[in-house]
Amino acid sequence: MKRKLLVTSALPYANGSIHLGHLVEYIQTDIWVRFQKMQGHECLYVCADDTHGTPIMLRAEKEGIPPEELIARVWQEHFDDFSAFHVNFDHYGSTNSGETREFACSIYGKLKAANLIESRTIEQYYDPVKEMFLPDRFIKGECPKCGAKDQYGDNCEVCGAAYTPSELRNPYSAVSGAKPELRNSEHYFFRLSDERCQQFLKEWTTKGTLQPEASNKMQEWLKGELSDWDISRDAPYFGFEIPDAPGKYFYVWLDAPVGYMGSFKKLCNERGIDFDEYWKKDSTAELYHFIGKDILYFHALFWPAMLEHADLRTPTKLFAHGFLTVNGEKMSKSRGTFITARSYVDHVKNTEYLRYYYAAKLNGSMEDIDLNLEDFVAKVNSDLIGKYINIASRSAPFITKYFNGQLSADLSQPVAGDNLLTELRVSHVFLQQWYESREYSQVVREIMRLADRANAYVNEQAPWDRVKMSQYMDPGHPFSVQKTCSICIEAFRILTVYLSPLLPSLSRNVADFLNVQPFEWGHALSAHALCNASIKPYQHLMTRLDPKLIEAMVEANRESLKPAPESHSPARHAETQVHHQPILDTISIEDFSKIDLRIAKIVHAEHVEGAEKLLKLTLDIGSGKRTVFAGIKSAYAPEKLVGRHTVMVANLAPRKMKFGLSEGMVLAAGDGNGLFLLSPDEGAAPGMKVK
Ligand code: 2FM
Ligand code: ZN
Repeated sequence: MKRKLLVTSALPYANGSIHLGHLVEYIQTDIWVRFQKMQGHECLYVCADDTHGTPIMLRAEKEGIPPEELIARVWQEHFDDFSAFHVNFDHYGSTNSGETREFACSIYGKLKAANLIESRTIEQYYDPVKEMFLPDRFIKGECPKCGAKDQYGDNCEVCGAAYTPSELRNPYSAVSGAKPELRNSEHYFFRLSDERCQQFLKEWTTKGTLQPEASNKMQEWLKGELSDWDISRDAPYFGFEIPDAPGKYFYVWLDAPVGYMGSFKKLCNERGIDFDEYWKKDSTAELYHFIGKDILYFHALFWPAMLEHADLRTPTKLFAHGFLTVNGEKMSKSRGTFITARSYVDHVKNTEYLRYYYAAKLNGSMEDIDLNLEDFVAKVNSDLIGKYINIASRSAPFITKYFNGQLSADLSQPVAGDNLLTELRVSHVFLQQWYESREYSQVVREIMRLADRANAYVNEQAPWDRVKMSQYMDPGHPFSVQKTCSICIEAFRILTVYLSPLLPSLSRNVADFLNVQPFEWGHALSAHALCNASIKPYQHLMTRLDPKLIEAMVEANRESLKPAPESHSPARHAETQVHHQPILDTISIEDFSKIDLRIAKIVHAEHVEGAEKLLKLTLDIGSGKRTVFAGIKSAYAPEKLVGRHTVMVANLAPRKMKFGLSEGMVLAAGDGNGLFLLSPDEGAAPGMKVK
């Protein structure tokens, strides 16, 4: 039966580059979509850039361009990155579109008519310099629990406490540095606490729409009463103004999922597809959202509740996945493992290696997956090149050289019981099930088992020996070289059909090499596709992955001198900004001259056992050596510091610390989101005075 499916991946935020963490999701989705298309189903895949909100507005302002210009530029970058990884959207749109605006307004109107929208006055921090209300992430101050400085308005990164911005001590605006004022503002809420929403969500989250672990999590959240959801933001804001509410805008998370509909609507316009058939309440089309586990809350609660009460269909299923770790750890800029899609393409080029590796790691669960770079090289080379490609590269040249590119007329195997091709075909049933349930690691394992089987067959038949024996060169001989090699090429063809969702570009090249149509799933079963076929001369279909390329890529991504926040989840709506702290009280030149600043050369640097933030530095200041414990571990690997010149406070009273005596201080710039050690210009020597 031909199914109609609409599939989405989460909309990446237009405030950052696509990185290997993002790609787990897009590759996972793309494989699934390609599989469904190969089955002959009508499967449509849409996505878009998520473009609204304060961070985009401020970033555009900082760059001195309109937000529209910023999001157009980022859109192109995202689109190019996805294309390079063969992520093949039917439409890639933007939430900043007329279609998304219309749907957001109409859904809002329906919720309002259903008495599910309420306006309430709330107290919120306001930046009097910037003249804007501040989102929690743009207010900083001292943690009310542990006193740590420069903590965000919602939680403390030092002690982990959660609080509201009004509890912060000495709050300041991360945008202007001004002291924020509490002001009243009218906000609009989606009344999720309404009995209708609670009741609906309890049912919706337990009827098989979610993976079991996701459903359990939702039940925890649904145990207490859900709070109403604040869906409005005050001007200035980059987004859609709320109808009949001048100066009020939809919060970015309200229109983000609506972007799925907006992008799909554009596709419908392009191709004459009936939009309502997919989105009307009783639609029989299937709707699937692939998302990261961190945004389940929005997709499993807010989004279905919005759709349900706006008289639209709800998703058939949500497929949540885990995060990516690299070499067993969170992606990290200082380790060079925060790898952008672009730098992968620039260094490694072949993006199907990564598609294959991710597939080998993915299953239908929410577990994190690890990209171990050494294992990545080993697996690509041993599986793809050593097993799969090997089948063709060992047999096709004989067909070209001795048989003018012509395969045998009969590809049935000469000996009953030797059922290589039958075995390969039988597996299509399991493979189909594993693709459908997103158990790609099983798919890969099975295909490699079959590839081993085919290689064992070539080894047994040893065509390289038989070409020297004239009886085997007679095409009529049941074990002729032509027949053996033809069977191998047929095996290779079947395996390529199975691998097509993972390796779409390679699959096209194989079809071209074999002179056949692009592969569909059913082609795996056709026994005569290659009988009597002529194939093109064999050329390398894929080459080994050189580990040096990976080393160079990691090196290029290593930012030892420019640390940045470490994250392993996709770019979030609240991204890092520059945080301006207020300028302190004026001091006199005499006050300043009391500080003895000297050029220091770092002659030794090491980790301090048991210290989370410190490095132990030995500094040469001309007149002698000093030991300083510096809180710069998050930003610098010790070996990168040795030999560097910096600036130190040489007359700071020595301080006894848990780990030893610290005899001064090195100077670094930082605002809570990075640390930048100062360096003098070339020529400055240890001991020179800084004034
Ligand atoms: O978390 C994020 O990066 C969001 N931009 C995802 C939005 S998904 C959907 F709701 F649009
Ligand atoms: Zn704290």
